[in-house]
Amino acid sequence: MSEYAELKVDGNVYKLPIIEGTEQERGFDISKLREESGLITVDTGYKNTGSTQSSITFLDGEKGILRYRGYPIEQLADKSTFLEVAFLLIYGELPNSQELYAFKARVKKHQLVHEDMKQIMLGFPSKAHPMGVLSSLATALTAFYPESLDPNRSADKVDLTITRLLAKIPTLVAWSYTNARGIRANYPDNSLEYVSNFLKMMFNLPTEDYDVDPIVADAMDKIFILHADHEQNCSTSTVRIVGSSHANLYASVAAGINALWGPLHGGANQKVIEMLQNIITNGGDTKKFIDKAKDPNDPFRLMGFGHRVYKNFDPRAEILKKQADKILERLGVNEPEFEVAKQLEEAALKDEYFIERKLYPNVDFYSGIIMKAIGIPIEMFPVMFSIGRLPGWIAQWKEMRTHNEPIGRPRQIYVGHTQRPYESISNRS
Ligand code: CMC
Repeated sequence: MSEYAELKVDGNVYKLPIIEGTEQERGFDISKLREESGLITVDTGYKNTGSTQSSITFLDGEKGILRYRGYPIEQLADKSTFLEVAFLLIYGELPNSQELYAFKARVKKHQLVHEDMKQIMLGFPSKAHPMGVLSSLATALTAFYPESLDPNRSADKVDLTITRLLAKIPTLVAWSYTNARGIRANYPDNSLEYVSNFLKMMFNLPTEDYDVDPIVADAMDKIFILHADHEQNCSTSTVRIVGSSHANLYASVAAGINALWGPLHGGANQKVIEMLQNIITNGGDTKKFIDKAKDPNDPFRLMGFGHRVYKNFDPRAEILKKQADKILERLGVNEPEFEVAKQLEEAALKDEYFIERKLYPNVDFYSGIIMKAIGIPIEMFPVMFSIGRLPGWIAQWKEMRTHNEPIGRPRQIYVGHTQRPYESISNRS
């Protein structure tokens, strides 16, 4: 196999070293190209650009493979728990039982958040989108832990910030939810496991105790595992690029939450249910919506369909579709959206437009059905994605800083005006 790619421009030949990963993915290194040739590469949307060499997550979009630290997502979803997966992503190996015990105890110890956080929450109107609230609260954590601003802190101090994030984000999510509903905040219950504690903080009422159903906790745990990392996606790249300026971890994660919020990324789960409900209120005509999605003059897209890297199937969607079937049956819930989702999927998968463009249901297509069935409000879906993605953001931020990666700063090809003289305002038309 060649060690170099050769680029010929204007009679000059530039040798670009080939880099090969452990799964035989190959790319060539253009980092010296500009120095040597004055040329840059152009790839809007980074569709074919490797921004880093990472050992966290492997993804093969053609074969539908997703592995965290080498472990297949199917096995992790089946056998592991979210906190164990968080440990795996952040520290590189599955924990032994003492390590897991200590990790869980550390997280429990930090679940409480400062009471003054409630003052910040009170400032938000009740209609505020929970993603905006969450990213603001994640940034606000820097005010409570100003030592986190030091980019040269020791590894154990960084570790404390990591633990605080994993511990406090679910509390902040639950508190912002109860605050928006005008209900007293529920405090963490250290006798409960991570996900059960979160659900209890969300749904316990002063008038009615919320008993965590293990089926519901297990379904939520699986959703978190399936969302925990996805290599260099939009929000993760955001976290890495923000952190590359030596911005602290809270600020970097807050930026990730904002990137995730968009309907093309983590906001899609909310949009999927809204779309399915829209189809139902419009008489269940899936064809009409498929036609809209195919119309180049209509901005409408089938939400929960298509993926930048998965071109055959999204393994997370496969797991979630089966999960949705199981959960709805076990909870005895009939979600009409699930029926419409199945019809839509079936129709789209037979349609030439979707086949040609390799558009398949993605993780967001079925996660919303499960979350709706277990009582998570629709506008909170992207927030659930954020809790799930948190260990991935942390692991990727940590890897980027440990590798001492340089500040992220893409170049551009300028296509604006060439130099022109300043016109005084009286001369402008
Ligand atoms: N419905 C209809 N057409 C679509 C869709 C869709 N959902 N997705 C892509 N296309 C078409 C698109 O119009 C384009 O057609 P043409 O070649 O005729 O111009 C072609 O497929 C390629 O699309 P693209 O926008 O160039 O692909 P991309 O890789 O830039 O975008 C995507 C990927 C996920 C943003 C896009 O598929 C999309 O907008 N999907 C809907 C939103 C969604 O479900 N997002 C969640 C992604 S999975 C969770 C996550 O990782 O965040």
